[in-house]
Amino acid sequence: MITTFYLPTKIIFGLGSLAQLGTEATKLGRKAILVTGKNSLRQTGILDRVVNDLKENNIESIVYDRVEPNPRTFTVDTGAKMARKNGVDLVIGIGGGSVMDAAKGITLASSGNWLVWDYINKGIEVKDKIPSLILVPTVAASGSEANCGAVITNWQTHEKCVLSTPHIYPSVSIVDPELTLTLPARQTLQGGVDIFCHLIEPYVTSGKPEPLTDAIIEASLRLVVMYLPQVLAQSDDANARNQLSWVSTIACSQFTLLGGGNGAMTLHGIEHPLSGYFDIAHGDGLAALLPAWMRYTYPARQARFAALGRNVFGKPDGIRATGQWLKKLGMSKRLGELGIEFDSIGEMADCAVRTADWLNKHPNRLDTETIAGIYRESY
Ligand code: NZQ
Ligand code: ZN
Repeated sequence: MITTFYLPTKIIFGLGSLAQLGTEATKLGRKAILVTGKNSLRQTGILDRVVNDLKENNIESIVYDRVEPNPRTFTVDTGAKMARKNGVDLVIGIGGGSVMDAAKGITLASSGNWLVWDYINKGIEVKDKIPSLILVPTVAASGSEANCGAVITNWQTHEKCVLSTPHIYPSVSIVDPELTLTLPARQTLQGGVDIFCHLIEPYVTSGKPEPLTDAIIEASLRLVVMYLPQVLAQSDDANARNQLSWVSTIACSQFTLLGGGNGAMTLHGIEHPLSGYFDIAHGDGLAALLPAWMRYTYPARQARFAALGRNVFGKPDGIRATGQWLKKLGMSKRLGELGIEFDSIGEMADCAVRTADWLNKHPNRLDTETIAGIYRESY
């Protein structure tokens, strides 16, 4: 099996590495749009710090602080228009996965010839000159800083889809775990479960596991299992936050494909409609669906779940051990408690099949009926 490892992103990692943003930015542009969420960056004082750092490096910046969790096409296209109107040559996304994904969409759509949904829906060839992109994660979760994917919601159709093109690999990502110290417990847990799922989904669905890929994923899973409860117990534990940030950066990147292993993130394809229809946090949706998704997959991958239990939890039953871990974290809300309407299950199952073409890589059949079954079992 031939695999290609391609990651054209310079990743600067470490506590305090944010101090390098200005220097890195001068190598890429003169006028930047700073894409952020609505409150946290200003509240934590990071926004002022970054604007001053850019100014000291003779970089003009405008702030676009309108990105909501589960970023929507309208928000991305509005930011792209602002970037175009101001003639920026650099996009800097500082925030969680929602902000980083919106920054990727803004980078692509800033040429003005197409809306971001056109790139998702029509697979438009990128021919225009687009700005450079720097990403700075403030949440250990999505790993968007180390891949070329962005998950954007079309709120009219409730489709939450993956935009993926090599043009939106960041030129530079600065991963400074210090920025995650202010993350509240709920978002920390949602992010930790997201990292766990980025790892376990390809791990258990793989039909041709490879020792190197298994070793990378198992080590990463053990770190999440160990350090997430530690961060919950002590939110300013810099070492625990550091470990979670490392794992977050590699878990949704090609690092976990090194050595082969052809798994697929099929639980993600089933979760996206939950956030597309009801705007729930991605990590909450994953946590609610994970037990039923594992039970559904078990008959086709018994050895994988035994390996999960043995090599990650030190227990024989990987499904049971995962369920206990989620419960201990308080991450076992069911779909009904998350505000999902039971009558929407059929429509969401249809949407999953329509918007996640990689579901056909699951070891047993994932179609509207079986997906609706997983939703019902998680309700
Ligand atoms: O919006 P602000 O005010 O900034 O508050 C945010 C937001 O409300 C807050 N926050 C972020 N950093 C903080 C902070 N609060 C205090 N201190 C900080 N340091 O946290 C809230 C959640 O932010 P969000 O970005 O939504 O969370 P997360 O990082 O979990 O990202 C979730 C998004 O990532 C996408 C998901 O679909 C979802 O839209 N994903 C992107 C992927 C990718 N590009 O590779 C893969 C993932 O599987 C995931 O799908
Ligand atoms: Zn995810």
